[in-house]
Amino acid sequence: MVTASESRLAGFTHKIESREARIGIVGMGYVGLPLALLYSGQRFKVTGFDIEARKVATLNAGGSYIVRILPGEIQQAQKAGFRATSDYSEIAQMDAVIICVPTPLDEYHEPDLSYITETVKSLAPWLHQDQLIVLESTTYPGTTEEVVVPLLEAGNKHGLKASRALGEPGFFVAFSPEREDPGNESVARHDIPKVMGGYGPVATELAAALYGSIFHRVVPVSSPAVAEMTKLLENIYRCVNIALVNELKQLCMKMGIDIHEVIDAAKTKPFGFQAFYPGPGLGGHCIPIDPFYLSWKAQQFDFQTRFIELAGEINTAMPYFVIEQTANGLNEQRKPLKGSKVLVLGVAYKRDIDDLRESPSLTIIELLREKGALVSYNDPYFPTVGRGRHYRLDMTNTPLDNLGQYDAVLIVTDHSSYDYKAIVEQAQLVVDTRNATKGIDSPKIVRC
Ligand SMILES: NC(=O)c1ccc[n+]([C@@H]2O[C@H](COP(=O)([O-])OP(=O)(O)OC[C@H]3O[C@@H](n4cnc5c(N)ncnc54)[C@H](O)[C@@H]3O)[C@@H](O)[C@H]2O)c1
Repeated sequence: MVTASESRLAGFTHKIESREARIGIVGMGYVGLPLALLYSGQRFKVTGFDIEARKVATLNAGGSYIVRILPGEIQQAQKAGFRATSDYSEIAQMDAVIICVPTPLDEYHEPDLSYITETVKSLAPWLHQDQLIVLESTTYPGTTEEVVVPLLEAGNKHGLKASRALGEPGFFVAFSPEREDPGNESVARHDIPKVMGGYGPVATELAAALYGSIFHRVVPVSSPAVAEMTKLLENIYRCVNIALVNELKQLCMKMGIDIHEVIDAAKTKPFGFQAFYPGPGLGGHCIPIDPFYLSWKAQQFDFQTRFIELAGEINTAMPYFVIEQTANGLNEQRKPLKGSKVLVLGVAYKRDIDDLRESPSLTIIELLREKGALVSYNDPYFPTVGRGRHYRLDMTNTPLDNLGQYDAVLIVTDHSSYDYKAIVEQAQLVVDTRNATKGIDSPKIVRC
């Protein structure tokens, strides 16, 4: 005989398998929107929640605001029932809700959980029995259990509690980190294994069923905190290794060794080495930010995360190093940085994407302006660059012509649409922070 508890689990799994499950995704950004399309592609009826009216209107009109997502993909999803809304009362109709809202740092470099707490408070009143709530936003270990669960329990109308076992009534909660690599087309999203940790084993099972419908491999772990820490380990690993090559690059430059040649040679080792590349500094919503979520939490345990601090120090200094190298290059041509015309190529934080969050270009442009340089930029993905949480540029894109008019052209983002050979031919001086001019031999190039 099937017990009431067993049928609870079977009911959820059946809804997933039959595609009757209604899925709500909160935060229609770089993470949430592609996830919504993945579920729609598997014939689920998906509702996207966002507080930005412009995004909701664009999506409902079959449009897209992310370059790599074509309007046709949104329209295809609409045929499977996808729509967007700002109305949280619709949460009540969802079987599973996945939260993908931002987790930035505040002005004191501390975790800003306000997007998560606001979202959770907004959806709490509409929770219902057996609903699954999954947090995907990157955050410190403990957030799901210490912040999300208490807010959900305090805010819901029916006095429901988070259920840790089949016999306990209530809703279910899990954490499952996002592993997207924007611009990387080499791995299909559904081939990236999906880690998840439930608040109790039943929540883990439900989350595995939910994600197992779109990801080829799910990796259940024993708690939300393990899943939260897994994501941070992955990003700290990148951050620390990038800092290592950034430091070694500076030494190699002094020793007259090409760090890129070294990395290319080292990566022929078939075990124990993974290539990371130096650059002008970290960018994006993850690598420059996430490690500090852990350093902040570590303080609660009277523990200092020294690798994170050191890597942060080295990586944050990289834009200053680029300015120094640009000044040296100009100096060789008997020009001061003050009054020189400098064209910055690329404001996106990495190649071929339309995201400039935390981009080192923004800092580099500000530093150049502080030194009195006359700065322009070119980026095919950004017709304008206005103001953000940490910058205030108010610039418009400059066409890529007449490069000879600039005293220096500074390659900060190595977009693949640029013709680097032509750029070197036309420019007076090229400062290359990305090894984009590899193979081009010219005394005009400063590689740093
Ligand atoms: N972008 C990436 O490559 C990436 C990769 C892995 C993990 N992450 C993590 O995923 C999370 C989301 O990142 P993102 O890049 O998608 O951010 P994003 O800024 O592109 O999107 C977040 C969306 O959430 C919406 N939002 C904010 N508050 C809301 C609220 N209260 N209710 C409804 N919607 C709200 C915003 O309007 C925005 O559309 C972050 O924690 C990030 O660290 C991002």
